[in-house]
Amino acid sequence: MNTNCIGIIRAFWTLCGAMALAVPVLAADTAGDAARGKQLYHDHGCYGCHGFNGNTGARDLVATGSPLISDLGTFTMFLRLRADQAPLLPSTRMPNYPASALSDAQVRDIYAFIRTFKPDAPAVKDAPTLKAILDSAARPKGR
Ligand code: HEC
Repeated sequence: MNTNCIGIIRAFWTLCGAMALAVPVLAADTAGDAARGKQLYHDHGCYGCHGFNGNTGARDLVATGSPLISDLGTFTMFLRLRADQAPLLPSTRMPNYPASALSDAQVRDIYAFIRTFKPDAPAVKDAPTLKAILDSAARPKGR
């Protein structure tokens, strides 16, 4: 093996070492605090349109597969772009959340909280009143 190869291999391992050190630091930096996020989610009225668990209201935030909540960067961009674009698209019903309303750190906390949501809507068979309504609606008129 010539010295060039050894140099490249050495550089590779140095890089791996640096990445191993950098990754936990980055992870700690991007991880929000879900408890603080819960408070913000309530204070800023998100629950009013998205439900306390993100699965009622105007738009589900749970188990939708939406790319807008697939990662923190896109979620942040969604809130920020809305703030910039919504005046041009006044048909959207969600309020704007520019950085002056929710800081990046607060958005991170809200994101951490949203990621704790689990789908918990009961199956139709487990909601007797809903089942009765659906059965009744399915029956032909007059019976
Ligand atoms: C007044 C009602 C309302 C409030 C308050 C509200 N939203 Fe929304 N949200 C909507 C509606 C309606 C949509 C559907 C898209 C649109 O109109 O822009 C939406 C869409 C979203 C989406 C995208 C969902 C998807 O399907 O991809 C996310 C994420 C979201 N809201 C998060 C939040 C957060 C976080 C807050 C609080 C900081 C909040 N919303 C407050 C009404 C609201």
